[in-house]
Amino acid sequence: MADTIILPSDQDASGRSLGDEEIALVTQAIRSGTLTSTKGFAVKELEKRFAEMIGVEYAYACASGSAAIHVAVAAINPEPGDEIVTTAITDMGALTPIMYQGAIPVFADVDPATLNVTAETVDAALSDRTRAIVVTHLFGNPAQTKAIKALADKRGIPVIEDAAQAFMARESGSEIGSIGAIGCFSLQQGKHITCGEGGIVTTNDVALARRMRLFINKAWPYGEAGPDHEFIALNYRMTELQGAVALAQFDKLAGNVRIRRLNADRLTQALAGINGIATPQIAPDAEHVYWKYCLRIDPDALPGGPPALAAALKDENILSAPRYIQKPAFECAVIRDQRTFGNSRFPFSLARPEAVDYSRERFPGTYAGLRDVLVLPWNERYTNEHVDYLADAIRTHANSLTNTVLEVAE
Ligand SMILES: Cc1ncc(COP(=O)(O)O)c(C=O)c1O
Repeated sequence: MADTIILPSDQDASGRSLGDEEIALVTQAIRSGTLTSTKGFAVKELEKRFAEMIGVEYAYACASGSAAIHVAVAAINPEPGDEIVTTAITDMGALTPIMYQGAIPVFADVDPATLNVTAETVDAALSDRTRAIVVTHLFGNPAQTKAIKALADKRGIPVIEDAAQAFMARESGSEIGSIGAIGCFSLQQGKHITCGEGGIVTTNDVALARRMRLFINKAWPYGEAGPDHEFIALNYRMTELQGAVALAQFDKLAGNVRIRRLNADRLTQALAGINGIATPQIAPDAEHVYWKYCLRIDPDALPGGPPALAAALKDENILSAPRYIQKPAFECAVIRDQRTFGNSRFPFSLARPEAVDYSRERFPGTYAGLRDVLVLPWNERYTNEHVDYLADAIRTHANSLTNTVLEVAE
């Protein structure tokens, strides 16, 4: 390998598009003296532009991606013990809101090639207690939302799209976040655009929109006649400081997505034909927006599998992540041991035994997907040189791992 290169990182200025535009808008917000979004300019403008971009009637900003999921679930208003079908390969922030709202996350298995749920795996997880389906577009690669929505429509239940990692992704021409009843986005540090922490929910449904707006605002209907705190809800508002940064970032989103996709295509071409390595599998009608670029490693072809390749890449300053998350969400203490409210185990105390049966054989795709995936860091600040560096490092080390096996076999 040639000299090592330090890749831009989404954890600092090297890999973020934060600059003068953000500073100007934050300054404007501070000088206005109004930092609450109930009265300021920035969050309102962000919401208007985001709704236009996704092609929906309503978008509301909130405190985080986890808050966005919470807002969505609260808007659906499940009864205690209702089930919400989702994935075990996701951020815990997409699951705890379900439990906070008294519903039970029921895990569908995933396609090991994409780590996304499919219409088939969701169908197998549905029951007469299913109240909603959360479809997560992992790594920015669209799941089969339209097929899953068809299943949901038959039962008259809503689909919530978790698009935290999938800004401007599309499925057969439709914007991800506009296909289901509600879309949820995250503006946390490492996402396509960021304001440190933040979230956005989207919908075309006027009733869901009102409930979401209220849930963000302690259920206080600002601007309506005879207001009251209408139901249990939190203060999940985004501040004007965050909104100002997010508004400036919004203008950079399309450019960030374009560069991420161009670079990903370059890497995919450069990695063609390496024994034991598969590049991202994308449905023909889908547009992947590469929050991360994932490889799948065949451990039979590359001895040591993803951990061995990750260790070799680390010597080249490439910090890849085998497994993405260490274990399926249902193996985490909060769900496995049902650590919720006091000693009540609520809402799991209300669950059907099958809804909380996490036997390994029920999740072959989940375990295989986590075993084989290697997540590469990805960034809109990558140049061709960075992409070629990644490709060279992967090819060189994959070949040397394969050759080790061939030498042993000889
Ligand atoms: C798929 C997914 N859903 C939800 C979340 C929660 O978002 P946040 O970290 O902004 O609370 C994340 C993580 O960032 C995520 O990746």
